[in-house]
Amino acid sequence: MRVLRISAQDTYPIRQQVLVPTHELKKAKFENDDDEDISFHLGAFLDGKLVSVASFFYERNPLFPDLHQYQLRGMATLPEHQGKGLSSELLTTAFPIIKQNFCTLLWCNARVSAVGFYEKVGFKKLNEDVFEIDDIGPHILMYKQI
Ligand SMILES: CC(C)(COP(=O)(O)OP(=O)(O)OC[C@H]1O[C@@H](n2cnc3c(N)ncnc32)[C@H](O)[C@@H]1OP(=O)(O)O)[C@@H](O)C(=O)NCCC(=O)NCCS
Repeated sequence: MRVLRISAQDTYPIRQQVLVPTHELKKAKFENDDDEDISFHLGAFLDGKLVSVASFFYERNPLFPDLHQYQLRGMATLPEHQGKGLSSELLTTAFPIIKQNFCTLLWCNARVSAVGFYEKVGFKKLNEDVFEIDDIGPHILMYKQI
């Protein structure tokens, strides 16, 4: 397995397939995806095929005191490759990059179904509040100090 920096465009097929219930391309695109001053994207490759993606955005959430924060979005592994440690590897690669950019916190709106995954890679829930994100379902705010 190899982890490489990829473009936002490279993430779209996996985001569409895994994260967008309707598989629409426009819903797989995020604000600032193409702004390299704000975001970066990582991909995990198996036998040369991109199978897992994650994106990181310089974005402050006022619920946290840290001045410099990143938001994790678009975390997805193709179903047939889930449970092989690929997402964990993407995050382990991202942590030092985030730190190098003088950020001390990574946060995400975690799908309730993925909370167990985030806890395994060291994220904590800020609180027990569950909120709905349209068309996707219940989420919980989680964070990891970097
Ligand atoms: C959640 C997701 C990104 C995890 O990716 P992955 O590549 O399968 O994750 P890993 O293999 O690195 O998992 C790391 C650990 O978390 C566990 N894990 C993975 N998904 C989990 C889940 N949904 N709930 C609980 N534990 C989970 C794995 O079993 C593994 O445990 P281990 O270290 O004891 O073996 C992937 O399952 C996925 O794409 N799900 C659908 C989309 C989604 O929910 N994305 C998150 C949006 S917030």
